[in-house]
Amino acid sequence: MPQHRQIGVAVVGAGRIGAMRAHLAAAHPAVRFLAVSDADPARARALADKTQARVSSADNLEVISHPEVDAVIVSTSEHEHTAPVLQALECGKAVLVEKPIALELEDASRILAALEASRGNLRVGYSRRFKRRYLTAKEQVKLGRVGKIVGISARLYNTRAQVYQMLNRNPGATPVVDSLTYYVDLLGWYAPDNPVVEVSAWGQAGTIRARGYDCDDVTWAILRLADGAIVNLGVSFAFPDHYPSLGYSGRFEILGTEGVLVIDDDHLDQLLCTEHGIPHIYVPDHTVNMAFLGSSAPGDWAEGDFWGPLASETRAWLDHLSTGRPCALTTAAEARNNLAVTLAIEHAVASGKPVKLSPAWASAAA
Ligand SMILES: NC(=O)c1ccc[n+]([C@@H]2O[C@H](COP(=O)([O-])OP(=O)(O)OC[C@H]3O[C@@H](n4cnc5c(N)ncnc54)[C@H](O)[C@@H]3O)[C@@H](O)[C@H]2O)c1
Repeated sequence: MPQHRQIGVAVVGAGRIGAMRAHLAAAHPAVRFLAVSDADPARARALADKTQARVSSADNLEVISHPEVDAVIVSTSEHEHTAPVLQALECGKAVLVEKPIALELEDASRILAALEASRGNLRVGYSRRFKRRYLTAKEQVKLGRVGKIVGISARLYNTRAQVYQMLNRNPGATPVVDSLTYYVDLLGWYAPDNPVVEVSAWGQAGTIRARGYDCDDVTWAILRLADGAIVNLGVSFAFPDHYPSLGYSGRFEILGTEGVLVIDDDHLDQLLCTEHGIPHIYVPDHTVNMAFLGSSAPGDWAEGDFWGPLASETRAWLDHLSTGRPCALTTAAEARNNLAVTLAIEHAVASGKPVKLSPAWASAAA
């Protein structure tokens, strides 16, 4: 039987995702202490009340350095990850930070250097890995059932209603850097030790740019891996506001020398149509009358509990800290490489030229 260590957790950032993480941590049997902080003290207090956290603060360092806290979940907006992550590593706390690790390669490199200096434990929340269909695909690929991967084709769609939430929070949280990043993560997970070496990409402007955002409606990229495998990744978050998806619609196809693996992630298999309106889990005050259930990326509330990829991921990370069991969460080095790839896609679109990726390119971009 594994030993169970009791742990104290601080959640920094009490927004949509931080609130879910805090609820999950509060319900985990190994968690004996919970603290919450947010730049907005009322939001931190409200979440602390709901989760019975013992401390709430507008000062991140107060909860991070609290002597009862062993582990810190950083769920702040994308451009606000670096400072609390560095504080937590300096205090010797284990860290789970939301994706992307940072928005600039320089920040990601600072985090990696701090992690190495502190010999700490940091993972990045790419919760798509914990969606059952992607997890089972990983197992089949690992068992060699598709043979050697020679190509991957994947695309991800979402609505304008959600993209405006992301871009209003942070103009750098584009569909490429903030969402296609999940597929770059899966690519690295399914094809490890085979880095992306070249990126060509094109974007087409449309309704999102017409609304005043610096963001294309459609981005399509072709990536070449070190061994010559070819990957085609596409993203569009310009679907009509009331398209029935409550999150991502995806497709991921793995082409191997001995098999193919097709992941249909469009969620067309569970349809609800109602005259009562279905609230969007991520977009406030947004309802649809027809919804693909199961399309919410983090998961869903049911019977008073939260279920789905974000729940499985949070529990796996807490189990890892409590028992020492390995967990499948993304490492800091993987997350930094991922950021280099998504920034290269944006760079290729902006310059109209292919980008060669190498350690030298990554440091030059930093
Ligand atoms: N894994 C998933 O399924 C998933 C889904 C959506 C978003 N995310 C990621 O989660 C993170 C948060 O997204 P969200 O949708 O919860 O955003 P949000 O805007 O709902 O919440 C962010 C919170 O951070 C707080 N904040 C901002 N700067 C802060 C600082 N310096 N110190 C303390 N608090 C600060 C804000 O006040 C806000 O309450 C992002 O990195 C996003 O990419 C993950």
